[in-house]
Amino acid sequence: METWQRWPLLLLLAPLLLLPSSASASCVLDEEGDNCHCNFSAPKPEWDRIAMCISAVQVDLHGGGHSLDIFLQKEIADPSKIADILKALRLRRLTVKGAQVPAPLLHQLLRALTYTRIEELSLIDLVISRPPLLPPAISGSDLRLRALHLHGVWWTGEGSLLAAVGPWLKPGLKALSLTGLNLSYVPCPELGAFEELNSLDLSDNPEITENSLTSALCLLKLQALKDLALRNTGLQSLGKVCQALEATRTNVQRLDISYNELGKTPWTQCTWPAALLSLNLSHANLKCVPEPLPMKLQQLDLSYNLLRKHPRLPQVTDLNLEGNPFAFASASARLQGEQLTEDCTVPSRGSKFAGTTLAFLVSAAALALLRGTGEFALWGAN
Ligand SMILES: *[C@@H]1O[C@H](CO)[C@@H](O)[C@H](O)[C@H]1NC(C)=O
Ligand SMILES: *[C@@H]1O[C@H](CO)[C@@H](O)[C@H](O)[C@H]1NC(C)=O
Ligand SMILES: *[C@@H]1O[C@H](CO)[C@@H](O)[C@H](O)[C@H]1NC(C)=O
Repeated sequence: METWQRWPLLLLLAPLLLLPSSASASCVLDEEGDNCHCNFSAPKPEWDRIAMCISAVQVDLHGGGHSLDIFLQKEIADPSKIADILKALRLRRLTVKGAQVPAPLLHQLLRALTYTRIEELSLIDLVISRPPLLPPAISGSDLRLRALHLHGVWWTGEGSLLAAVGPWLKPGLKALSLTGLNLSYVPCPELGAFEELNSLDLSDNPEITENSLTSALCLLKLQALKDLALRNTGLQSLGKVCQALEATRTNVQRLDISYNELGKTPWTQCTWPAALLSLNLSHANLKCVPEPLPMKLQQLDLSYNLLRKHPRLPQVTDLNLEGNPFAFASASARLQGEQLTEDCTVPSRGSKFAGTTLAFLVSAAALALLRGTGEFALWGAN
């Protein structure tokens, strides 16, 4: 009897088991039996080792770049025949990474997953070959996922990957990340139905710009959205980002636009969404703190920018200023008798005030030094 006949459950993870085994162990299950990790990077991967993961809650499969076309040669069993067994699985999170996956195999995997209680699916660095990816056969048999992550998935078919995956998803999706997919737009047509979506990550898509945010007024439809991440995209103007959010009347609470070149374009007058509590402007080449800041801002990450002055932001309770040149800049400015200005205008040289400050600092330092030696002498005498 073949492995898959004895263990019909294993069909969940596609017919990976139908191949003869070779090589060394490639799957590891932790002591609690909750997390299972397989690395099939070996030249002749031992695919049937995946049986070890059958009872795990979280399963990570690394395909080692192999093409899974080989599995298409075998007959694939119908997941509906083992629906009860699939329902009994503990599987909640599945990651499939680094492989070339033919669309019919992906279809079969998604079908099997619709019978499980999976909550989170991540497809990372995959090439989806042999399109099309067919929609679910029966309506209502879609994936009840809470979170879907697609990163670096290369779609070889016509149309967009999201249009192919979209029909599988239930509108109850809470978190969606579409990163490193070369998107140039916020995928509105495909996203329209996700009224419960509260986290959207569009990072690492360099072609997304401020215009992509407004063009289709997509965010207008995502009224439950609380977290928006646009890390390392093509944003250039903080003012325009603010205007785009203003136009979409979004209730976003946390905005991450780190790793964007925001320092070059001057600030445009704009009111940030009232709900905004956290703003990440790390690695953004900012020379000054944009004003005004969101009204209720609590968390601000300004790390690794070009700030030359320590900003005073009393309302922000969680402020990150790491990696800015102001510590160094203010020390050197003091030495040169130069006063740093707060509003990013050209610094004025040799002002009377700065000179006085320097004199004061020098005498204070001298005093401290003298006192230190005095005390040391006294202490030594004892
Ligand atoms: C997978 O195994 C290969 C060797 O076969 C190793 O080089 C690689 O680092 C491993 N990857 C992970 C994510 O464990
Ligand atoms: C995105 O575009 C780059 C450059 O054109 C390419 O190297 C990369 O494979 C593309 N990635 C995807 C997921 O399509
Ligand atoms: C802000 O973004 C940077 C870079 O993407 C990240 O390292 C940092 O943890 C983020 N800060 C917060 C407060 O989430």
